[in-house]
Amino acid sequence: MTNLDSRIAQHLDSLAAAHRRRHLRAADPGLIDVSSNDYLGLSRHPLVIERADAWMRAHGAGSRASRLVTGTTQALLDLEARLAAFKGTEAALIFATGYQLNSSVLPALFELAPDSDKPVVFTDRLNHASLHAGCRGIHQIRYRHNDLAHLESLLALNPGEMRFIVAESVFSMDGNRADVPALAALAERHHAILYLDEAHATGILGPGGRGLAALAPGQVPVVMGTLGKALGGAGAYVAGSKLLIDWLVNRCDGFIYSTAPAPAALGALDAALDLVPAMDAERSRVAAMAEQLRTTLQARGYATLESTTQIVPAVVGTEAAALAAAQHMAAAGVLAIAIRPPTVPDGTARLRFSLSSALSEAQFGQVLAAAATLPRRD
Ligand SMILES: Cc1ncc(COP(=O)(O)O)c(C=O)c1O
Repeated sequence: MTNLDSRIAQHLDSLAAAHRRRHLRAADPGLIDVSSNDYLGLSRHPLVIERADAWMRAHGAGSRASRLVTGTTQALLDLEARLAAFKGTEAALIFATGYQLNSSVLPALFELAPDSDKPVVFTDRLNHASLHAGCRGIHQIRYRHNDLAHLESLLALNPGEMRFIVAESVFSMDGNRADVPALAALAERHHAILYLDEAHATGILGPGGRGLAALAPGQVPVVMGTLGKALGGAGAYVAGSKLLIDWLVNRCDGFIYSTAPAPAALGALDAALDLVPAMDAERSRVAAMAEQLRTTLQARGYATLESTTQIVPAVVGTEAAALAAAQHMAAAGVLAIAIRPPTVPDGTARLRFSLSSALSEAQFGQVLAAAATLPRRD
């Protein structure tokens, strides 16, 4: 074994001892899927597939170059204008993935701070890894999860010329929401710039599926979301003023030095934007299913935290117990993945259910029945 491999083996052994070793396993298509983020079932929608196919035939399998070289088509510019209209902003820019977007847009924004005064960045403790990646090397002041009073006190204590607040509108592992209007008002009061991640809200929450930033129109200067969750395809967008987008086109490495998103993904988005505004019935059904699942899990003694969305955690505690709970669900025909630290805080390993309008009544009944037989926790 090489030196590299023996070191890797040692480290993997310690992950395994802590029940934190991860493995790539093909998902079992025979199980009912309550772990994907395809909240509106659009990844399999005939119109989405047909449009992805049509765009691939028109523009090719790949986009052939970065956006500033030959990767920009008129169709892509038109699609970005549609996205901006959907989000109620002047402009939008599409990236290949949300991780790439968060990890490169934030550094491009931090560059705007004067040399004499470094940016001050306030981050919610439960922010997604991609947001932390975007803040790497920057002093992050972490506020208690969703605790706006705590955030306000930290803002008062930490002055600066350019201050950012970075948060999610729906937290991916807890399924709860930020109070976006209150957060936006607080940011305005303190002259801080709000950066909002709408990965788990876009398409499924807010008026017409436009996300929770739509509840504070014109008050969220930088909003991003992903296209691979409720919108069913792949990629991510950032939306805001024309100047913001112009700056990113000029200074955001993850945009400049990366091949443009594949035409099929763009076609899928074009169709999703046709469908999503009219999917209120599907959004309501998902919300009702989530409520029923929370009630069932709570009746078995499981904390579902502050979940009010399609994402429903069932906190189990230890990594080993969470893995056992996932196995219990799988034995009942349900794919409910165990989420372990470091993705979630120590001692809060959990099952993370995410509900989709693609589930039939019978399938959802099976999910509820399986959840009702989880070992009691009280
Ligand atoms: C809150 C949040 N932001 C960003 C991302 C990254 O998006 P993508 O999967 O497109 O890389 C995710 C993905 O799970 C997410 O949950």
